[in-house]
Amino acid sequence: MATIIESSRGTWNSKLGFILAAAGSAVGLGNIWGFPTQVADNGGAAFILIYLICCLIIGFPVMIAELTIGRRTQKNPVGAFKALSNGNKFVPLIGYWGVICGVMILSFYVVISGWTLAFVFEELFYFFSYDTAAIYVGDLGNGFKNAIFTLFFMVLTILVVTGGVSKGIERVTKLLMPVLIGILLILIAYIFTLEGAFDGMIMYFNPDFSTINGTLILSALGQAFFSLSLGMGALITYGSYLNKKQNIVESAAYVTIFDIGIAVIAGLLVIPAMFVAQAGGVEIFDPVTGALFSSTTLVFDVLPEMFHNVGGVIGLLLGVTFFILLGLAALTSSISLLEVPVSYVIDEHNIKRKKAAWMVGSIVGVIGVVLSIETVLIDYFVNIFNEVGLPLGGLMICLFLGYFWKSENALLEMEDGNKGISSSKFSTIWIIFIKFISPILIALVLISTIWRLLS
Ligand code: PFF
Repeated sequence: MATIIESSRGTWNSKLGFILAAAGSAVGLGNIWGFPTQVADNGGAAFILIYLICCLIIGFPVMIAELTIGRRTQKNPVGAFKALSNGNKFVPLIGYWGVICGVMILSFYVVISGWTLAFVFEELFYFFSYDTAAIYVGDLGNGFKNAIFTLFFMVLTILVVTGGVSKGIERVTKLLMPVLIGILLILIAYIFTLEGAFDGMIMYFNPDFSTINGTLILSALGQAFFSLSLGMGALITYGSYLNKKQNIVESAAYVTIFDIGIAVIAGLLVIPAMFVAQAGGVEIFDPVTGALFSSTTLVFDVLPEMFHNVGGVIGLLLGVTFFILLGLAALTSSISLLEVPVSYVIDEHNIKRKKAAWMVGSIVGVIGVVLSIETVLIDYFVNIFNEVGLPLGGLMICLFLGYFWKSENALLEMEDGNKGISSSKFSTIWIIFIKFISPILIALVLISTIWRLLS
């Protein structure tokens, strides 16, 4: 494992450290909470297929673009676009948009992450028969309780980010990612011993192609951007700490495959678990419409009931481990969301990391508290900053790279750590995707998303 000299701005300590940190950013609530719910909501394997296509033909090329811009400029998203703007006033706006999305997405992300922590306690209280306490911490509508857990999670995120790139982010994600995979596999192995799990697996892998329509494609693309942490400069920021020896295309491929893999594996846990819950008498589908009951809160409504039905120490262990898993996955993502605005404040306003992290973290904390109390607002934040904001960021990144900075310059940067890439067939295909296919597809999806939101 190559060790790189740490510059004053910070760099990843090793190739594996970077890949795990970027994969840690990608793997989060989006994979374990978002993906399985979307699959169940959208016709099982048909959604998986469209999602895979979105990740491979749009997500992967955009991820290469973000990492390349980051490494070329060694700057936060605003600084990066300024550095490559040739004095154009509009180009840095792409970076500012990323910083805004980072703050806003993190604000609701910490609320949901707070729920995962609250449910660790819910499972414990239930086991020890402290029913009132269990109901209290498990109440998603209790603003005061939500705010406490949100702030707790925010502080955890800030503490990791104050540690810096290699000693904070890299060290924590390197430790947490293998733990996370281990827990996931153990839970899956156990779930398949329970009644109903195989019905879930059948639904998961049995495609219903009749469900493929415009809305499904939009959901799949939005999910791909969110899950791969694209469109707001998180990977520009992580790329800015990369050294010139690292092969960008290879790293992006590992991160993409890792993220898809964990989402598919998480589905193997959550969807069978839903059917186990159903076998235990919990209603998960609306008998009239056939749609899932309350998608957003599904994991928090259905799974605890399943853990309670299993009962005893096993039920407790399953429940606690699942919500710890979800919390850990969320933490490795929330640090990357916070790192975007923090790196901006450090680089552009010359403020020390510790102060920057607490400053930005406090702003996010305040918005998070508002969302903890008014949880209905979360849906609006998801619509604006996630469903529209990230694809919009991705579109601007493609257009900027393809037509302003020019793909030849990007390829020149990619040559470091990957000699010969600029004359390879891969680079021709990548250019076609970045200049034409990805922006056209994203634009189509965006137009219809905005249309849907407005109508
Ligand atoms: N990829 C994370 C998830 O799947 O939960 C969420 C996320 C992290 C989105 C970082 C955007 C981002 F920049």
